[in-house]
Amino acid sequence: MTDQLQEYFDRSLEFNNQVLIIKQCSSGDVGCVVWDAALVLLKFMESDFFKSKHETLEQKHVIELGSGTGAVGLAASLLGANVTITDLEEFVPLMQLNVNTNEALVKGSLMAKTLKWGGSVQEFLPHPDFILLSDCVYYLQAVGDLVVTLDELSGHDTEILCSYEERTIGQNLQSLDKFLTLVNEIFVVDEIPLNQQDPVYRSEDIHILSMKKR
Ligand SMILES: C[S@@+](CC[C@H](N)C(=O)[O-])C[C@H]1O[C@@H](n2cnc3c(N)ncnc32)[C@H](O)[C@@H]1O
Repeated sequence: MTDQLQEYFDRSLEFNNQVLIIKQCSSGDVGCVVWDAALVLLKFMESDFFKSKHETLEQKHVIELGSGTGAVGLAASLLGANVTITDLEEFVPLMQLNVNTNEALVKGSLMAKTLKWGGSVQEFLPHPDFILLSDCVYYLQAVGDLVVTLDELSGHDTEILCSYEERTIGQNLQSLDKFLTLVNEIFVVDEIPLNQQDPVYRSEDIHILSMKKR
């Protein structure tokens, strides 16, 4: 995803009184750009509600799945978390480019690695404090593997923060139904109310779930 023929365009994101520069690809698969559900989740991490609930992310072990550009995990690392952003192998160069571009802002630590849902999670253990997931529930065939990975990565103290956008096109509704059915069997699932999210970066059709193992 980073080669000499690839063109990038920057997206500036204000977070925690700093500015993240996220490199996005002009062409490529869905992970090449920052999606709105990512913005909503990223901004939620600096909301008063999040801060009052979690106090600090300093030294917390965080894994992001399906990171794409890596924007959400990058933001968590600005708050002092030790973060691994992950995606399919082809996205590691783009994630690494964004790690390199923003490294001066990172307060915790930040790594980019391959993690294909349904594959081994051994190298990502012990169980993290948080798993971050934005806009990853859209592909029906992958939902089962995604939930297997969430289950295997999570310990009883792991909190999963998952944002998704409601869409009616293609297999999106079926994928969401399957995802919600499967996660409810394994996790206690709470929706973060709209009024607890960032006052600007929130939307009726974008949801944030907080999930913990039953
Ligand atoms: C719609 S993009 C969201 C990217 C980013 N989280 C955001 O919200 O901006 C979905 C991401 O899931 C990743 N993905 C899809 N299937 C995957 C799989 N089987 N294992 C790991 N990542 C996968 C894609 O490569 C892509 O980066």
